[in-house]
Amino acid sequence: MFSPAAFISFGLLLAPFASAAVHDVTVGAGGLTYSPEAISAVPGDQVVFHFQPKNHTVTQSSFASPCGKKDGGMDSGFMPVAANVTDNFPTYTVTVNDTEPIWIYCAQAANTPSSHCGAGMVFAINCGADGSPNSFTNFKNAALAVGASLASAAPSGSAAPGYGYPSASGTAPQATGTGTTTGSATTTTHTVVVGGPGKLAFNPPSIQAQPNEVVLFQFQQKNHTVTQSSFGAPCEPLAATSTTGQNGFDSGFFPVADNTTTYPTWSITVNDTNPVWAYCKQKTATGSHCGAGMVFAINAVDSSAKNFSAFQAAAMKINGTSANSTSGGASSSDAVPSLHISTAVSVGLAAVGAAFTLLL
Ligand SMILES: *[C@@H]1O[C@H](CO)[C@@H](O)[C@H](O)[C@H]1NC(C)=O
Ligand SMILES: *[C@@H]1O[C@H](CO)[C@@H](O)[C@H](O)[C@H]1NC(C)=O
Ligand SMILES: *[C@@H]1O[C@H](CO)[C@@H](O)[C@H](O)[C@H]1NC(C)=O
Ligand SMILES: *[C@@H]1O[C@H](CO)[C@@H](O)[C@H](O)[C@H]1NC(C)=O
Ligand SMILES: *[C@@H]1O[C@H](CO)[C@@H](O)[C@H](O)[C@H]1NC(C)=O
Ligand SMILES: *[C@@H]1O[C@H](CO)[C@@H](O)[C@H](O)[C@H]1NC(C)=O
Ligand SMILES: *[C@@H]1O[C@H](CO)[C@@H](O)[C@H](O)[C@H]1NC(C)=O
Ligand SMILES: *[C@@H]1O[C@H](CO)[C@@H](O)[C@H](O)[C@H]1NC(C)=O
Ligand SMILES: *[C@@H]1O[C@H](CO)[C@@H](O)[C@H](O)[C@H]1NC(C)=O
Repeated sequence: MFSPAAFISFGLLLAPFASAAVHDVTVGAGGLTYSPEAISAVPGDQVVFHFQPKNHTVTQSSFASPCGKKDGGMDSGFMPVAANVTDNFPTYTVTVNDTEPIWIYCAQAANTPSSHCGAGMVFAINCGADGSPNSFTNFKNAALAVGASLASAAPSGSAAPGYGYPSASGTAPQATGTGTTTGSATTTTHTVVVGGPGKLAFNPPSIQAQPNEVVLFQFQQKNHTVTQSSFGAPCEPLAATSTTGQNGFDSGFFPVADNTTTYPTWSITVNDTNPVWAYCKQKTATGSHCGAGMVFAINAVDSSAKNFSAFQAAAMKINGTSANSTSGGASSSDAVPSLHISTAVSVGLAAVGAAFTLLL
């Protein structure tokens, strides 16, 4: 977040007679975020937080425990702001007394899968430079890891399918105790944005991840899924084509309204370095999202024939149908040979009540 250059100018500001500055920060504008996310400030400066609609806090935590209130730390308390408020937003002011880092989070829905902090709603004053241990990036990743472990610890469909689970974080149908350390600042989280206005894509569409790392999907506008498939059948659930009885993961649909600024998230934990292939299973009257190239991969090997581009091209070639892409798109001879009863479980997480969570 901060370059060495920023620290040089920071040093200059410490010169005698420097006057105190006021730093304005908006809270919750355009999503679960503080804007800017991190600032440098000198003793005497004031940081004024402007609370936008919804219901957020400015609460002090520590680097080690990003989503937990620091004993004796600052806390604005909840600042509910009605959706129709457009100016004169309520404020909370923090006076900076020294050059020590100050770590801040939003305490809304703390310790639940809908935790704002767990979705990355954190802020810092005088954090370390990028690349240093106490950088803002590391702080935010630690907060996202807390969110991911809250999501995977939520009661889920591992025993029974979690129909309509009313959580902004969805469920983790693979909740099999993958051993991710709860709240550990060392867990790496990869955030992938799903959809958004006019976007039929995962961003980034292809990532490399190590075992036990977390992939956090943030569902933006429209109504998407992240559903595991296979390289050979990009637009079909893995359950329908697996010859070894694998169900594969499936987030279920996450409908997100156009005017929403709160994006639900859903996460998986990476088990190994084998490639993982996935797609959005949404189909509309005008075509399927998978056929439009809305596919995703973890640990695809760029230098092999089974690379991400080949996977995406195959999805588009078969236009989102369940045809076996390796046989030219017309074959139906592979029609669900291993389909069995548990297929219903893997697709059971339908229609999450996202509207329910918009108030948080
Ligand atoms: C704001 O959020 C807090 C904590 O979730 C809740 O107790 C309070 O009722 C909310 N206020 C409004 C007006 O929604
Ligand atoms: C916002 O809506 C509430 C209730 O719908 C109303 O009482 C209030 O006057 C409105 N405020 C503004 C600024 O429009
Ligand atoms: C700075 O000191 C004042 C007075 O002791 C205190 O109220 C305030 O919380 C301190 N600011 C921070 C960021 O700790
Ligand atoms: C990891 O393994 C579990 C248990 O087999 C499975 O449910 C989950 O989908 C796997 N995760 C990925 C990313 O494949
Ligand atoms: C697709 O067809 C090819 C050739 O017939 C076969 O080797 C492959 O296993 C099939 N893939 C799937 C996912 O059924
Ligand atoms: C989301 O898409 C699914 C599948 O097309 C559909 O059943 C569901 O009604 C959609 N939800 C909303 C809120 O549009
Ligand atoms: C979003 O739009 C829908 C339909 O127009 C409306 O019912 C809802 O109140 C809006 N939500 C927000 C947060 O503005
Ligand atoms: C792809 O499928 C959609 C229907 O899902 C159809 O309208 C469209 O014409 C197809 N495109 C091609 C190139 O076949
Ligand atoms: C990706 O796969 C395709 C098809 O298998 C192949 O033609 C292409 O050369 C591969 N790309 C790389 C960089 O190896």
